[in-house]
Amino acid sequence: MPKLSLVAPSTTLTADAVVIGVVQGAKGPELAAGAEVVDDALGDVSLLEALDAAGAKGKPDEVTKIPTLGLAKFPLVVATGLGTVVDDEAVRRAVGAALRGLGGKRTVHIAIDASVSALAEGAALGAYSFTEYKSTPPPTRLRTVTIAATNEKQDRDELRRAIAVSDAVTFVRDLVNTPPNDLYPATFAERVEERATTNGLSIEVFDERMLKRGKFGAILAVGSGSARPPRLVRLTHKPAKPVARVALVGKGITFDSGGLNIKPGAGMASMKSDMGGAAAVVGATLACAALKIPVEVIATVPMAENMPSGGAYRPSDVITMRGGRTVEVSDTDAEGRLVLADAIVRACEDDPDYLIETSTLTGAQLVALGSRMIGAMGEDDWRDRVAAAGNSVGELVWSMPIPEELRPALDSPVADIASLTGDRWGGMLVGGAFLGDFVVDGIPWVHLDIAGPAFNTKKPFGYTPKGGTGAAVRTIVAAISSLVG
Ligand code: BES
Ligand code: MN
Ligand code: ZN
Repeated sequence: MPKLSLVAPSTTLTADAVVIGVVQGAKGPELAAGAEVVDDALGDVSLLEALDAAGAKGKPDEVTKIPTLGLAKFPLVVATGLGTVVDDEAVRRAVGAALRGLGGKRTVHIAIDASVSALAEGAALGAYSFTEYKSTPPPTRLRTVTIAATNEKQDRDELRRAIAVSDAVTFVRDLVNTPPNDLYPATFAERVEERATTNGLSIEVFDERMLKRGKFGAILAVGSGSARPPRLVRLTHKPAKPVARVALVGKGITFDSGGLNIKPGAGMASMKSDMGGAAAVVGATLACAALKIPVEVIATVPMAENMPSGGAYRPSDVITMRGGRTVEVSDTDAEGRLVLADAIVRACEDDPDYLIETSTLTGAQLVALGSRMIGAMGEDDWRDRVAAAGNSVGELVWSMPIPEELRPALDSPVADIASLTGDRWGGMLVGGAFLGDFVVDGIPWVHLDIAGPAFNTKKPFGYTPKGGTGAAVRTIVAAISSLVG
């Protein structure tokens, strides 16, 4: 992540590029507040006329680059479209879109008069790139981003928060983008452990032997088809005087081939991202610790690779879960809910005040809500509160029901419950119904289905790159923060 800092708006501008905002006005493009200093630095030349000539309209995701041809100390003006309604998310997206195209510059200055939080998050998240596996690393990298702001305490607090959250999102994106031949349960757990140790969080990693001893039947069953054994990570942020305890659970399938109910090629292509929920709860816990949020956070993270082999679990197997209940495996490709149920049972043993679970659980989420909207299911009040918290920080979260008739449809003739119903209608909600059955009564819980939002298979947009997005991190941090004060 580039280094972000605040500088007075009046500073002489010397960056490699200066970013300004363009609003989509009723009568054409308008310069957004903050651009005056840039216009002034260009002397007699009118910035707005130049933008107009270049065809700028001020639309979202429109970026217009204007060279200054020696007229100013900065060689390039980057004008980014804010659209018609300039709220925090519009700013985040516009700055993100601008920074996405500036990877080769060393220093960038942002001259937009808006919330420091939105400017900083847009910049940090838009500047993301994943070059770990390129044999020739890019020659230059974005080192510093300065933001024009008054540097009052509120601005500094917003910057600190934005850095902590963006840092977590960046870590999550890296984990999701890492190929599954390098990121499998043992190495995933190691990477989390490294971070936890350097950031002073306590962590416990359960290997296969410990999983057996702990009777995590589902994590072991799902992991049994892989040569790479499963893990369970427990990561804790424990402040001195917590006002509440929140349990987090995230799906960590490092690759989902479908198992014996194997996926067709196209469906398998993006399945390295099936640990996006696990990465998100880890990231959120790290951010809560970095921000010293006075809420105890305990993340319980099951990690397994879902593969077909002679050792693999089968459809029609009955597995005994942590806590003793039995589940009939309807389809080995419905593996997420199984490992999550084991983890939810363990998480509830800590007697949390609230539970948040997130997972790339169902393709049906994409059918219902598209690729950007998180589906939220669970106890009504907490679900709506988490959804509102997410929407307030720019993630798209939509509350969905769990219709009562779905639960009896999961009755199994042989076991306590089946992992799936026979029909495919409301597939996202069936996933929610199954998970809810493992939450201890009385604990407000929410399930966030991020199957689409966790991984962008299309073009980049705003501050969202192709590949891993870091979905749900900001929602979870905002929901936990909402419990304070
Ligand atoms: N990991 C998938 C869900 C998924 C699909 C995530 C597309 C991201 C993009 C999950 O384990 C799965 O395979 N779900 C099945 C459920 C089915 C067997 C009921 C699905 O959605 O097809
Ligand atoms: Mn699956
Ligand atoms: Zn899966």
